[in-house]
Amino acid sequence: MVTVPRNAAISETEKNSVGLWKEAIEQRTGVKITPDREKALSMLLDRRMKELQCGDINQYFEDSLDDAKGAQEWSGIIDSLLIKETSFFRHQPSMDFVTDWVAEKVSEGELTEPLWVWSLGCSTGEEAYSLAMLIEQAMDAAGVVPRYGIIGTDISRDCITQARRGVYRQSKMTHINGSFQEAYFDQVGKGLWRVKDSVRRRVCFVNSNVLTDQSPMVRRKMHLIYCQNMLIYFRRWKRREIVNQLIEHLETDGRLILGMGELGNWIPPGLARVAPRTVQAYVKSRYGLQGDAG
Ligand SMILES: C[S@@+](CC[C@H](N)C(=O)[O-])C[C@H]1O[C@@H](n2cnc3c(N)ncnc32)[C@H](O)[C@@H]1O
Repeated sequence: MVTVPRNAAISETEKNSVGLWKEAIEQRTGVKITPDREKALSMLLDRRMKELQCGDINQYFEDSLDDAKGAQEWSGIIDSLLIKETSFFRHQPSMDFVTDWVAEKVSEGELTEPLWVWSLGCSTGEEAYSLAMLIEQAMDAAGVVPRYGIIGTDISRDCITQARRGVYRQSKMTHINGSFQEAYFDQVGKGLWRVKDSVRRRVCFVNSNVLTDQSPMVRRKMHLIYCQNMLIYFRRWKRREIVNQLIEHLETDGRLILGMGELGNWIPPGLARVAPRTVQAYVKSRYGLQGDAG
């Protein structure tokens, strides 16, 4: 066991330990800690060890990785390190694509069952609620009773807690047009807005890791999987592995929408690219494999 004096300059042991943390984080979450995030990781570990009055960096590492003993510490570290930036209607062309797709499904009478949507890596919920609002509006506009369910998942416990509350500051509302704000939010305090119950009861948030997910909620087949700005933190081969798994969750003829450029030119097997160039959207083919299996 190596004891590291907390005030010493960063020792080899400490450097190695940061390396071990980087590896563990990537292995468990898929997220690659880039060199510019290493300093943040190192400072975070230093702070936590001081708070816990722990002088042994190896012991701290082992304890934090222990599934039973370290679950809370691990989740706190992950929560502090992950980039969780998000906003309502973050990528408008993708949102417009969803609106058109829902409107088309409704007008062609294809909606014989509720529409199931998965917002993966949903952060604090803005993406899932944006999808709910526009689906609700498209169904309302077509005069059909809204029948849909949205599942938002994220590895961050803090994010999921906030998403479930569905309360947002005024500064978060800038991308929401006035009619949406009026129709789908209640003011619940000075500069605080809560998503209306009618929308919130359609959206369910689950704390889950895409790499290990066993949640029955997301084991069902989805009509739309919306996953933006999460895969960019993963290595390319990992992105492909995850997308191949997502395809299993997608209904035939379902849509997968990713962030622009997140897969490069690779077309996943079983999917075909749809939508304008400004949207990275795929349809699950009825006719088996089409993409590039590489
Ligand atoms: C930058 S945010 C993107 C939020 C939203 N999708 C958007 O585009 O605005 C990335 C989210 O992915 C989540 N995330 C990272 N690794 C994950 C994993 N292995 N499983 C589930 N969520 C993960 C993070 O916690 C974070 O909230």
